[in-house]
Amino acid sequence: MTEKKRVLSGMRPTGPLHLGNLHGALANWINMQEQYDCFFFIADWHALTSDYEDTGLISDYVRNMLIDWLSAGLSPEKSTLFIQSHIKEHAELFLILSMITPVPWLERNPTYKDQILQMSNKDLSTFGFLGYPVLQAADIIMYKANGVPVGVDQVPHVEITREIGRRFNYFYGEVFPEPESILTQTPKILGIDGRKMSKSYDNAIFLSDNPDDISAKVAKMLTDPQRARKNDPGNPDVCNVYEFHKLYSDDKTVERVDRECRTAGIGCVECKKIMAEYLIAFLEPMRQKRNDYESHPELVDDIIADGCEKARRVARETMSEVRAAVRL
Ligand code: TRP
Ligand code: SF4
Repeated sequence: MTEKKRVLSGMRPTGPLHLGNLHGALANWINMQEQYDCFFFIADWHALTSDYEDTGLISDYVRNMLIDWLSAGLSPEKSTLFIQSHIKEHAELFLILSMITPVPWLERNPTYKDQILQMSNKDLSTFGFLGYPVLQAADIIMYKANGVPVGVDQVPHVEITREIGRRFNYFYGEVFPEPESILTQTPKILGIDGRKMSKSYDNAIFLSDNPDDISAKVAKMLTDPQRARKNDPGNPDVCNVYEFHKLYSDDKTVERVDRECRTAGIGCVECKKIMAEYLIAFLEPMRQKRNDYESHPELVDDIIADGCEKARRVARETMSEVRAAVRL
């Protein structure tokens, strides 16, 4: 058997995962589990870089994110699932990398300036926020990952990671391989208001929503704006509800909606009800798994302990090499 290539990726624990996260990053990770040696972790220290003032929710978010992952199909048998702050080696590598990272590389980082402008309600002129990519570099090279599955917004961070790793190798000898971004193709999932689905827009359908929440949210979804009355024919091609039908309903239903919307044979209220049923059924197996984990918290504790132990073994190994290379 040839050795599987190693991939690693992380998510910041900023709240419950929604359908956009599922069809983007998470589904992609789940598919990678057979083919790669996967390391997936929750980047709780990264959450602190912008949410340092209000940290009360982070630990709940961490646990719920892991439950979201497990319910959706990440498997602790196939992948190494862990929590960044449980592996103290990340902090040590971050410190060492910070010594060799030129500040202009960080100031040039496109997400750095963007985020400072976008999150003007927070003071992000901190050392930690500037160093965000250095911590991310430590996360990645610690496990000598070959590939990093990320969305396009994270590509600059993987690029900085390569540069930092190269610089380390140049000064101290070849320790780290160069990781490549594996670009995640993200289908654009729109929220119930027609904007990109996002927690911060308050337009998301969460994996953990119960059937009543889902029905209520679907009932509020924007439809073809030209279709004012039930007797007006509609155009499914401009309707987000139809996009959801294509994701969750069976082919016959999709065909029927396509046909009957155009002839005013089906009204939006009914059309949404049907879609909500399919969506609820789609999420049902996840809901059941979530219930299992929530009623057996010790199971989740064990998964966290095992995953962190597996990650720690690799991290310890790397850090011995790093200390030897740096001659500490
Ligand atoms: N910065 C990433 C994000 O916000 C999260 C992250 C932290 C990450 N460390 C990582 C992703 C290492 C990939 C690899 O999405
Ligand atoms: Fe959209 Fe369905 Fe209404 Fe057509 S009938 S506009 S597809 S919600």
